[in-house]
Amino acid sequence: KRRIGVMTSGGDSPGMNGAVRAVVRMAIYNKCEAYAIYEGYDGLVKGGDMIKKMEWEDVRGFLGEGGTLIGTARCMEFMERRGRLRGAKNLVVKGIDALVICGGDGSLTGADKFREEWPGLLKELVETKELTEQDIAPFKHLNIVGLVGSIDNDLSMTDATIGCFSSLARICEAVDSVDTTATSHQRAFVIEVMGRHCGWLALMTGVATGADFIFIPEEPPKEDWEEDMCRIVKKHRAMGKRKTIVIVCEGAQDRNLKKITPNAVKDLLTNRAGLDTRVTTLGHVQRGGTPSAYDRMLATLQGVEAVKAVMEATPETPSPVICVLENKIVRRSLLEAVAQTKEVATAIEAKDFHRAMELRDAEFSE
Ligand code: F6P
Repeated sequence: KRRIGVMTSGGDSPGMNGAVRAVVRMAIYNKCEAYAIYEGYDGLVKGGDMIKKMEWEDVRGFLGEGGTLIGTARCMEFMERRGRLRGAKNLVVKGIDALVICGGDGSLTGADKFREEWPGLLKELVETKELTEQDIAPFKHLNIVGLVGSIDNDLSMTDATIGCFSSLARICEAVDSVDTTATSHQRAFVIEVMGRHCGWLALMTGVATGADFIFIPEEPPKEDWEEDMCRIVKKHRAMGKRKTIVIVCEGAQDRNLKKITPNAVKDLLTNRAGLDTRVTTLGHVQRGGTPSAYDRMLATLQGVEAVKAVMEATPETPSPVICVLENKIVRRSLLEAVAQTKEVATAIEAKDFHRAMELRDAEFSE
């Protein structure tokens, strides 16, 4: 019987529980054993009770729950070889040789590095007498399968990450609420939304709520944006609009890579556009709460596909990441997806915004 481990890592996102449930049940359905690794890489490094065998009914009720019920952490120890040695030993002791990880690009890259180092780690564990040749004999290879859980929708090569549509819906509800009070007082609101390096949430919120102006990292506003923004909001007011909504992505910056803060935007709207302005930072409300129907479905279909990928993996198969492209669940190379994601960040850092947008556009029109 194969033993498959499942864990969630990095920032939580709505739908992660659905993914864990699907992996556990699909593994059991395929006559494998499923193990939940609690608290992300922390649990992998600590081992023992943090790695628990899961039965069919252990994931009952998971589908509609927000966050991640098996916990997550940003683990520093796993970044070091010492931590990965502990993790490898814990897996061998439990008899696990396949890991399905639901997390962001950082967590997935860490997992692939672990896979690459696996034979070396086992060799070292034998040399230091932590394990014997006999112990490691059945564990020649480690299979890694990635599931992308992030509200930011920031991984290339997939149309949607698990959680992004729940978060977008929550943000839109919040903006709708702000709208009614803004309209009553004829006020302007600057609303900050999450998205460390990716403006998807801000951009789609702008589209879905009809915002007046948005700021995203991939396409900073033109040099004279301060004038431009005030001109545009004044024009909208002149057309009869009683409120002004400006969406600022938390990773927004100008063309010189200087952060654009909600308070700076507020000062402009107050002093230059003459509007009574408030700032609303949505914070972790965007990340918490129940997953939308779409995220439950995506997590379930992708969790099922992840187990299929484990069952079909050969030692030569590069680690896959489960994606959704044009409504189809597909496998892509994990390393390629991460590399393409990094390319966007690199283009932004190099102030090549044309390239950054070109890469993002390609993702959505592929
Ligand atoms: O990646 C998801 C995300 O919510 C980002 O949008 C945000 O920048 C970050 O995580 C916040 O992380 P935390 O508060 O968990 O440190």
